[in-house]
Amino acid sequence: MSIAVVGSVNMDVVARVPRIPGPGETLLATGSSRGGGGKGANQVVGAARAGGADAAFIGAVGDDPDGRQLRAWLEADGIDVSGLATAAEPSGVALISVDDDAENAIVVVAGANGALTSLNDAQRGIVAAADTVAAQLEVPVELVEAAADARGDGALFVLNAAPSEPLTSPDVAERVLDKVDVLIVNEHELLDIAGVADQSEAVDLLAARVPALVVTLGAVGSIIALGPERAQVPAFPVTPVDTTGAGDTFCGVFAAHLGRGPLDLDALVAAARAGAAASAIAVTRPGAQPAVPTAAEVAALLASP
Ligand code: RIB
Repeated sequence: MSIAVVGSVNMDVVARVPRIPGPGETLLATGSSRGGGGKGANQVVGAARAGGADAAFIGAVGDDPDGRQLRAWLEADGIDVSGLATAAEPSGVALISVDDDAENAIVVVAGANGALTSLNDAQRGIVAAADTVAAQLEVPVELVEAAADARGDGALFVLNAAPSEPLTSPDVAERVLDKVDVLIVNEHELLDIAGVADQSEAVDLLAARVPALVVTLGAVGSIIALGPERAQVPAFPVTPVDTTGAGDTFCGVFAAHLGRGPLDLDALVAAARAGAAASAIAVTRPGAQPAVPTAAEVAALLASP
């Protein structure tokens, strides 16, 4: 099994704060750290640590110390980074405040993440060879479309529509959603893309547009929609310390467990349970990539009574 993740990679600069500051306010942090982040890179780390799949990452960093560190962190997880380009722009940075309730506020400076709008031959080859291709929307939507178009016969294209803004344009949504096998959104992205305020109406609308839909609801769990079929997957109860990247962990582990499918309700629910277990563990630890659990940790939680 192999998975190619196409997306963003950031240096996360995290400040622990008693509460998220308001406009015009200066707060003193109680601590700070730097670590690997970016929705794409977090997801490929999730997939790699899930085990059972060769994981490759396609994106871009700058020719700078952050870029070299981000590449090295991915390599340390055994991820193929031959498709990680070095761009003229500086590496992406995310400025993250995490408060005492584990909530966060994130500002992303995209930098090199905006550099790729298409795949080169080598990157296209990596995507074409993958059983599963996963993407998010923190890179140009043209790159996401190129990834979907480059997938091989029978491979699944899993899109985590985060952030959802590009898909609030009906033209873009129509083009992109036509290529998607599994769409993963959180409750806010669901409503944004569907363009309605009611959650179940939004689920019905999006479920009619893609073969399979997964809606993550944080501590509540997730909803799976496959045509007219619905399933609920509960979350694992934990006390969070930092929710940064928890959704990415869910997506990466989900995609790795789903593999090539089949796209039936049982397979989707099993993959979502693994994603839920992984993200439950991740929120009990600080940081994005550093918090992603191993396959053994996920298996232990799944087997717990
Ligand atoms: O989803 C969390 C991620 O969003 C962080 O790691 C940050 O880099 C931003 O991309």
